[in-house]
Amino acid sequence: MPTHTIIEPFRIKSVEPIRWTTREERESLLKQAHYNLFLLPADDVLIDLLTDSGTGAMSTYQWGAIMEGDESYAGSRSYDRFRDSIQNIFGYKHVIPTHQGRAAERILFSCMVKKGDVVPNNTHFDTTRANLEHAGGEAVDLVIPEGKQPSTVHPFKGNMDVAALEDLIKRVGKERIPLIMLTVTNNSGGGQPVSMENARAVSALCKKYGIPLYFDACRFAENAYFIKVREKGYENKTPKEIAQEMFALGDGCTMSAKKDGMANIGGFLCTNDDLLAQQEKDLLILTEGYPTYGGLAGRDLEAIAVGLQEAVQTDYLRYRIASTAYLGNHIHEQGVPIVMPPGGHAIYLDARAFVPHIPLEQFPGVALAAELYLEGGIRTVEIGTLMFGAAAKMDLVRLAIPRRTYTQSHVDYVIEVILEVWRKRQQIRGLKLTYEPPFLRHFTARFEVV
Ligand code: F0G
Repeated sequence: MPTHTIIEPFRIKSVEPIRWTTREERESLLKQAHYNLFLLPADDVLIDLLTDSGTGAMSTYQWGAIMEGDESYAGSRSYDRFRDSIQNIFGYKHVIPTHQGRAAERILFSCMVKKGDVVPNNTHFDTTRANLEHAGGEAVDLVIPEGKQPSTVHPFKGNMDVAALEDLIKRVGKERIPLIMLTVTNNSGGGQPVSMENARAVSALCKKYGIPLYFDACRFAENAYFIKVREKGYENKTPKEIAQEMFALGDGCTMSAKKDGMANIGGFLCTNDDLLAQQEKDLLILTEGYPTYGGLAGRDLEAIAVGLQEAVQTDYLRYRIASTAYLGNHIHEQGVPIVMPPGGHAIYLDARAFVPHIPLEQFPGVALAAELYLEGGIRTVEIGTLMFGAAAKMDLVRLAIPRRTYTQSHVDYVIEVILEVWRKRQQIRGLKLTYEPPFLRHFTARFEVV
């Protein structure tokens, strides 16, 4: 391990200018966006921490591979590279490309879930929950109790509560549980990892009751790195070996290649089940495309094939996890309440503790996110009452770090802005909902200041 500062393991070849706005401009932009940062033009954002999904920088190797993309409709060479790269890490028999993670979710649930079924997960991401409910299933979140307490420090706060899982299976009956899912890392619960020990215990329970286990694998590489540095017995294994061991515990996965696929678009669905794979491919042809491209261009398949192998490199992951922790630790030291310890892809402000004077029905997370934009042009996202309604156990503001995109001085600026907002926190006011759509309301909801 290097003893010097952990630096970005790359140099910059191509740059993208960012634009400053004045506070007055941001006041008016915020009003025009109805206090929902999703509704802001991206050009009016200085540092965009809305998501780490598809917003990262690709490597020269990925851009090189893009030129080699084979755009054949059927039997594309790029599909072979895509499948081989995925099988090398994930090990599953069938690899089905999709345009992004939620398409994999929709296809999986359409084929496996019927009305009245129940699907447990450590924590369903919003699109996972919505797609499951759309298929008639009920989403049950069974993360360990520590995973719901922002300030509690635990090395694997993403773990599934195995006892609660077995209780649920006994209560509803294994016939009503078509699959069990593990989300690595647990995005909605603070980007927190799941241990190998926990995955092994969940897998054993799945085998005991004959229920398939699927991973929501979006940030599997970051999860593998946390296992390497936090779980006994894994310190000398590579992140790739750890990921291989974890995926061998399951029957398949859904994946958004916009995260640890290091690509700007894409995803996939994997399974070891031949019959299910056939049904999934039939549905894929209906709505996404032929099974050797699944709604992606050949060049996208190439970028993902290369990106997945870059995501499991130890020097990249060391920098990735260190840079996220750098942001979290600096604000935490000054008393800012965050989900501890820092997660893999993001830092989560605990809005209920940050602005305790704002009641939940006035959306403390949305109000805090609006204030961060007003103060410094930073865009973040609420994960709380707006996103999940009354089911929300926490109100968090997520600062997601795009991969290989911002430097340490960008992060220093973000720290300064957060500390300024922290000093002025008593002046932040709650918001009133003026419009909401029937589902996934956080994307288009509108507000006014109370
Ligand atoms: N599962 C998890 C855990 C996710 O974080 C996401 C996306 C998805 C599934 C869906 O993948 O966007 O490719 O359709 N998360 C993004 C985010 C949007 O900002 O956290 P997708």
